[in-house]
Amino acid sequence: MAAFNKLTASELSALAARFAKPQSASAPQTVADSAAPMVQRTQPRPELTSFAQLPAYKQLQVQLKVAATTGIAVPYFMLHQGLAKEYTEVAGRRLLNFSTYDYLGLNGDERLNAAAAAAAQRYGTSASASRLVAGERPIHRELEAALAAHYGAEDCVVMVSGFACNVTTIASLFGSGDVIYTDKLCHNSIMTGAQDSRAVRVIYPHNDMAALRELLVKTRALHQRALIVTEGVFSMDGNIAKLKELVALKREFNCFLMVDEAHALGCIGASGKGSFEQAGIDPSAVDIWMGTLSKTLCTCGGYIAGCRALIELLKYKASGFVYSVGISPVLAAVALEALTLSRQELWRTQKLQENGAFALRRARELGLNTGLAEGTAILPIIVGSSMKAAFLANLLLDHGICALPIIYPVVAENAARLRLFLSASHHQASIETALQSICKLLPEATAREAQFVHKVRGTDADESADLAVSMDAAAVQAQPAAQLKEDA
Ligand SMILES: Cc1ncc(COP(=O)(O)O)c(C=O)c1O
Repeated sequence: MAAFNKLTASELSALAARFAKPQSASAPQTVADSAAPMVQRTQPRPELTSFAQLPAYKQLQVQLKVAATTGIAVPYFMLHQGLAKEYTEVAGRRLLNFSTYDYLGLNGDERLNAAAAAAAQRYGTSASASRLVAGERPIHRELEAALAAHYGAEDCVVMVSGFACNVTTIASLFGSGDVIYTDKLCHNSIMTGAQDSRAVRVIYPHNDMAALRELLVKTRALHQRALIVTEGVFSMDGNIAKLKELVALKREFNCFLMVDEAHALGCIGASGKGSFEQAGIDPSAVDIWMGTLSKTLCTCGGYIAGCRALIELLKYKASGFVYSVGISPVLAAVALEALTLSRQELWRTQKLQENGAFALRRARELGLNTGLAEGTAILPIIVGSSMKAAFLANLLLDHGICALPIIYPVVAENAARLRLFLSASHHQASIETALQSICKLLPEATAREAQFVHKVRGTDADESADLAVSMDAAAVQAQPAAQLKEDA
């Protein structure tokens, strides 16, 4: 009863009304009701009941056919046989590896493995159920306290996936009547969260603060709450957000600011603290710090750090937290150990930063197109077509180097690239080898692409129509995307 004494009169009457009035929800529509007008139940309709008939599946098959026709070996779902660090083993071959998020070289560290073993011994591997109902383990709170302290924030919540963390956080905090401004190159999880929220979405040109300001001037006053979202380090381009300017804009236009630190934590800033250190701002200037445990922290999961109200709200209302199991205590223990070690062993961040700067400098000297790269842990080598990127990745694999292509639709067709992840565990000689190999093999990738185009022109009508569909899709994507997207 004591708690009720703390409520104001209006809060008490709202509470009374809530319990006095039966909820007048109309009877839920059943699936059968909603489907009835559309489909005759008795008629077999394989095109509606077969996954193989889904347009997305058919499109995928066309893309795989293109690959098969050209002789491209699909470079995805590669089977690594051991710990992937500077080197990895695939099909019995030792490859130089540029495809791991392990930016600080901590994956496989015996202290992380020991933390995992100790947590498994003490708690088992499962968090039991949702933390809301099944409770939590001390390690959950220790990890959250350490992450909150990192940002000087009041609190933090950890969820099972970085992707889900972005989606559920954005979708549960904002809704119709609100507006969300996202950088054009924001990660799919941010875009999905914005879409799910039902707020109006405005996509601003990448890192273009003047354009964002113009959009804010035009649209901010039309909505209630507003959120600006950026990545600290952009995942496909490796460049850095303009945080100082974003803070100024969020203040001028009364917005919340959310920064995704997936590729920034441990990577940028003089001591690797991330975007706030890099920008020289007080972390409290950002309302929502988001990050993943899957990069420098060597496990998987996502976190939000911010003020107490924000975290309490998410813990009770974010469906991706409430209706999802808590992070495994084993993963929480590893993430905490990795965070602690990354703060103690600053040479890791320094080495990563040296490697990032070296790789960028050498790539430029060698005449490679590094796009917007700024010498972070992510180095794009833009080759300008999906096919060329795939051929180049294949050729590199043949030469003992693992660097994966990023192709349409993840990036625009004319921005297809190799994306090299750099790590503190790389030696600069290995980076040099990879870049020299890229230079050497690029003409061969270009030639193979030209041969393919020649071949398409000579194929029979059906086959060439199929291939043309795929190439057309790519060409459409290559056109400049709309800069502003608003949907009610
Ligand atoms: C910027 C960004 N945010 C969020 C995510 C999703 O995080 P996770 O892979 O840990 O689920 C990623 C994934 O790479 C990312 O690059």
